[in-house]
Amino acid sequence: MRRPFIAGNWKMHKTIAEAVDFSQKLCKQAQQFTGGKDILIAPPFTALSSVAKVIEGTGIHLAAQNTHESPQGAFTGEVSSSMAAEAGCDYVLIGHSERRHLYGETDDLLARKVEAAWKSGLKVIFCIGETLDEREQGKTFAVVEKQIKEGLKAFKEDDIERLVIAYEPVWAIGTGKTATPEQAEEVHALIRGLQKKLHGAAAADSLIILYGGSVKPDNMTELMAKENVDGALIGGASLDVESFLQMIMFDKPE
Ligand code: 13P
Repeated sequence: MRRPFIAGNWKMHKTIAEAVDFSQKLCKQAQQFTGGKDILIAPPFTALSSVAKVIEGTGIHLAAQNTHESPQGAFTGEVSSSMAAEAGCDYVLIGHSERRHLYGETDDLLARKVEAAWKSGLKVIFCIGETLDEREQGKTFAVVEKQIKEGLKAFKEDDIERLVIAYEPVWAIGTGKTATPEQAEEVHALIRGLQKKLHGAAAADSLIILYGGSVKPDNMTELMAKENVDGALIGGASLDVESFLQMIMFDKPE
């Protein structure tokens, strides 16, 4: 049985004070859910250390939204994965569609970022997803297959403990246009099938696959009811603590 996993990606939102306030409110409720579910928040870099202090000992995970592929160097404006780990992160998001599309991150670069993150002891939430054009041309699975094969080429069976895949169709991110539960399930099942083909049944059965793209309290339950949807990566609706708490409380049918 895979543990449900709910993650909030704050993108470029919240000051340090706002991030601390959110985390304190979240922690007050933490005992109710951290036993049975994995909960994660991904604040901007500036708030990581402060949030880490607030959530210490609660079991809530902390993620950076991006890290560099090198351990250190002359890379103005960048942050390495060991720096994120030192700030208190146990996870990093790699390959978010905004990084791929706004900052030109390629599969090859993302493969190096994944390796660097694993070397620093961070777990990886690896984000994949097709654009609207690609979906309309019937290329959805070819696109996610390529993203997985190339971005995760360093993957060995043992890495299953430190990998989560987030399927986020680009056309559903921040648009209010969620994939239907059936559309999400179809791609999640294909991803699990691909993992089985590449790395065997055990790695496929335990792979956590999140859905992301306009997840909200009112569509959470129907998405999470699908067999291969193990959780959610939530953007906009994760910024409000009441809304995030509502989404954490969902019950996945047995
Ligand atoms: P929205 O939930 O705002 O659509 O964002 C999804 C996302 O990009 C999470 O990483």
